[in-house]
Amino acid sequence: MPIRAIVFDLYGTLYELQAVARACENAFPTRGVALAQRWRQKQLEYSWLRSLMARYVPFDQVTEEALVFACTEQGLELDPATLRSLCQAWLHLPPYADMAANVRRLKDAGLALAILSNGARAMLDQVLVNSSMQWGFEHVISVDEVRLFKPHPQVYQLAEQRLAMPREQLLFVSGNAWDAGAARLFGLPVCWINRQQQPFDQLGAAPTVELPDLKQMVDWVLAEI
Ligand code: LAC
Repeated sequence: MPIRAIVFDLYGTLYELQAVARACENAFPTRGVALAQRWRQKQLEYSWLRSLMARYVPFDQVTEEALVFACTEQGLELDPATLRSLCQAWLHLPPYADMAANVRRLKDAGLALAILSNGARAMLDQVLVNSSMQWGFEHVISVDEVRLFKPHPQVYQLAEQRLAMPREQLLFVSGNAWDAGAARLFGLPVCWINRQQQPFDQLGAAPTVELPDLKQMVDWVLAEI
């Protein structure tokens, strides 16, 4: 079945998380890169744990709690103003340099575009507004609606429901291997954006296609449709 819509993950797929590391480095010189890595890892773990425990809280709270843990673990004193400003970095992420132009190419080809993210709805809206990208996506879908985080299959189902198209026609695009694998297991065709030549996660599924950046993803899509 031909692809009719593209569903994007947001963090680390359309928007660069390196900005979070830079903010951490400003707050804690020489310690920021390690802190940001641990923060992201804990943020993901807490989202997975909360889905397993059936104790959903929005991603901004998960993000804050993960930062508190990471700072405590690394012996960094986190005052309330620093906590606020570091969490704000998630709302001001820069898009990857090739993002806007390639979103435009997909739109010009008549494809429906959506975001499907673990982010709370208000977080997603702010990232889009702060980067002037609201024009890009007809659907901005947050896991808030099902109160479960990716990689739970109900999240991917939400995309199918909201776009009202069979899953075989929705290409899911993610830079996160675990997310790409889970979407594939749900039945979506998947493009894994592998910018750093990482191995794919061993979760029982391979992506439909693996490409190094958004431009090559769009080249591939335009050749397929
Ligand atoms: C998201 C995370 C998983 O945007 O990157 O959902």
